[in-house]
Amino acid sequence: MDLTMSCSSLFLLFIFTLHIHFLVPTSGKFLPFQQCAPFVCGDKKISYPFKHNERPSYCGYPGYKLDCDGGNLTLLSMDSLKYQVIHMDWSEQILKVARMDLLKDICLGTHVNTTLNFSLFNYTSNYLDSALFYNCNSPSTPQSNRFSCPASGDGYFAFKVDPASKLHELCNFSVFVPFIPIGAPSQPPTWKGSKSATISRATVRDILKNGFEITWIANTSLCENCTKSGGRCGYGWTRLEFNCFCPNGASTTICHKSPIPASVPSPAPTIVPSSMYAYSLTQYVVFK
Ligand SMILES: *[C@@H]1O[C@H](CO)[C@@H](O)[C@H](O)[C@H]1NC(C)=O
Ligand SMILES: *[C@@H]1O[C@H](CO)[C@@H](O)[C@H](O)[C@H]1NC(C)=O
Ligand SMILES: *[C@@H]1O[C@H](CO)[C@@H](O)[C@H](O)[C@H]1NC(C)=O
Ligand SMILES: *[C@@H]1O[C@H](CO)[C@@H](O)[C@H](O)[C@H]1NC(C)=O
Ligand SMILES: *[C@@H]1O[C@H](CO)[C@@H](O)[C@H](O)[C@H]1NC(C)=O
Ligand SMILES: *[C@@H]1O[C@H](CO)[C@@H](O)[C@H](O)[C@H]1NC(C)=O
Ligand SMILES: *[C@@H]1O[C@H](CO)[C@@H](O)[C@H](O)[C@H]1NC(C)=O
Repeated sequence: MDLTMSCSSLFLLFIFTLHIHFLVPTSGKFLPFQQCAPFVCGDKKISYPFKHNERPSYCGYPGYKLDCDGGNLTLLSMDSLKYQVIHMDWSEQILKVARMDLLKDICLGTHVNTTLNFSLFNYTSNYLDSALFYNCNSPSTPQSNRFSCPASGDGYFAFKVDPASKLHELCNFSVFVPFIPIGAPSQPPTWKGSKSATISRATVRDILKNGFEITWIANTSLCENCTKSGGRCGYGWTRLEFNCFCPNGASTTICHKSPIPASVPSPAPTIVPSSMYAYSLTQYVVFK
């Protein structure tokens, strides 16, 4: 047999195999549809706008990604900090989170304020501005709720602090942490009636362990109809817009029962058949 012939047929076979591999994955469904399925982490079922850290970017709304640590802990990363996601309220779009770095011990190696990316999240009204102050050697710092850290001396915990106050100037480090008061609106029950001068680090940690609430502000209204039609939501797969991934292709709205063939001219085609997807992949492979 001619070598060129067998080479090109091998190549064709290669392309064909690729085709099978990408276009018809084991279940025969559109790849993004498979990749963007909701995922379970511990007791939480997580879906759009969030995507798993390791999934393609088009599975979530830009910026919203969560990690699942050891199959149990749901983790959110923002700036340099990691937060444990304690609870998710899907109807109110609220995440309850707690700072991972404070969960073990409030004595920190590096002091970082809690900051939100306000283009993704916002605080709910249900929190107090509390702060941890470290290295408070000045005699004019408050003498209540003090704790001490082996490496950085005395600190104190202010459960409600005006960020504009000058208190932080008296200590070397201040770390602002919102927390949700439980029970009494202005004071956590642990401290009711107590004017104790010292507070144990474990107590402060347990207070902060309850976390605080943030809302995710992405508008996900288009997702509801997509999900109802049997699709899985995504964003920015072909363009910077919402995508509804269906078993047979992608749509900008909802899944239709049968795919619109690519060859049929349509004024506003909403379905990109999976064959087009495979075609572009093939091209990519050929020209790379
Ligand atoms: C906030 O999130 C948006 C969306 O992911 C990102 O583009 C931006 O860089 C983030 N801002 C900061 C300060 O991290
Ligand atoms: C997951 O959580 C369960 C129950 O809280 C716990 O027993 C188990 O050790 C956790 N697994 C990991 C990997 O953290
Ligand atoms: C936290 O924010 C306060 C007030 O803006 C600031 O004074 C302080 O230096 C910040 N702490 C750190 C560790 O950046
Ligand atoms: C964030 O929350 C504050 C207070 O709850 C509110 O005034 C503000 O408008 C919110 N910002 C956005 C972008 O939703
Ligand atoms: C805290 O700040 C004071 C005055 O700025 C400084 O003298 C002291 O060395 C600092 N302590 C530490 C542990 O950084
Ligand atoms: C969310 O998006 C939908 C569809 O684009 C729009 O109709 C709705 O007004 C938006 N809602 C908000 C709160 O912006
Ligand atoms: C969802 O579908 C309903 C019924 O078809 C429609 O009235 C509504 O406008 C759709 N919602 C969005 C956000 O497109």
